[in-house]
Amino acid sequence: MSKHVPVLLKEVLELLQLKTGMNVIDCTLGDAGHAEKILEATAPYGKLLGIDADMEAVLRAKQFLYKNEDRVVFVRDNFVNLGSILEENNFGPANGILMDLGWSTPQFEDRGRGFSFLQPEEKLDMRFAGNEMKMSAADIVNELDFGRLVIIFKKYGEENLSKQIVKAIVDKRKEKRIETVGELVEIVLQVYRDKLKTEKEIPWIGGIHPATKVFQALRIAVNDELKVLEQTLPQAVEALAPGGRLAVISFHSGEDRIAKTYFKKQNGKILNIINKKPIVCSDEEGKENPRARSAKLRVIEKL
Ligand SMILES: C[S@@+](CC[C@H](N)C(=O)[O-])C[C@H]1O[C@@H](n2cnc3c(N)ncnc32)[C@H](O)[C@@H]1O
Repeated sequence: MSKHVPVLLKEVLELLQLKTGMNVIDCTLGDAGHAEKILEATAPYGKLLGIDADMEAVLRAKQFLYKNEDRVVFVRDNFVNLGSILEENNFGPANGILMDLGWSTPQFEDRGRGFSFLQPEEKLDMRFAGNEMKMSAADIVNELDFGRLVIIFKKYGEENLSKQIVKAIVDKRKEKRIETVGELVEIVLQVYRDKLKTEKEIPWIGGIHPATKVFQALRIAVNDELKVLEQTLPQAVEALAPGGRLAVISFHSGEDRIAKTYFKKQNGKILNIINKKPIVCSDEEGKENPRARSAKLRVIEKL
């Protein structure tokens, strides 16, 4: 199972201005790539509260952080519950907080939960936290009406062929329920074939598979990612000590807009924006890790 490569690692560590003894919250533990370096920077006494909604991610993170386990509090929960998580664990105020949004490489590649359009036999599920979220991706695809599905693909995926794809989905599901990744990918590919008037294999466009946007949109909808982010940012700022910093890495314009808007609104009131423009990866990092190319980092400091 591949290990997730942390993005913008150097930039996050520099901008969080970590020092020995600091207490930090990692809201998105994943494979603990950032967490490991945060623990090094705050050694020997700094504590880390690490959260992930995915139990398997927490178990993997425990393995990766075994050397510093005594300095880590592991929590399996949604970061939208940050306020109560901190109360329950008597943790804080924090000197630094990291939110590295989205999915990790092992979730995408190996977990059998239908995150990747490259695993045709997998069930369309996409729930980070298993059955905790009410609707799976298959439930959304099969049960929402035409209009709501179009909004999801447009708003969360910025998919130009949203209407055509939803029409094809609605036609298909009259025959049978759409259950697998492969069935949905085939529907998307057929819409692209019709659009391009070809029966040939549809090429990846600019290195992107034609189903990428639809899959991204479904994942965001299943996990209610934008609302969760909106509700978490105020809790994260609240959890910081004065002078403490919050770093948010997003991979989608909807997420970045939420962070940008909230930080702008609160700028000079409860926080200072550290970087007006989002920080993006170096050419070198982009070459080594294609996922980093869509990452945007915003950092604020609590007043
Ligand atoms: C990009 S990965 C983090 C990678 C990590 N920084 C590293 O270096 O390995 C994002 C992680 O956040 C988790 N996640 C996403 N949304 C979440 C939420 N609302 N609450 C808690 N965890 C969440 C995912 O399960 C995933 O493991």
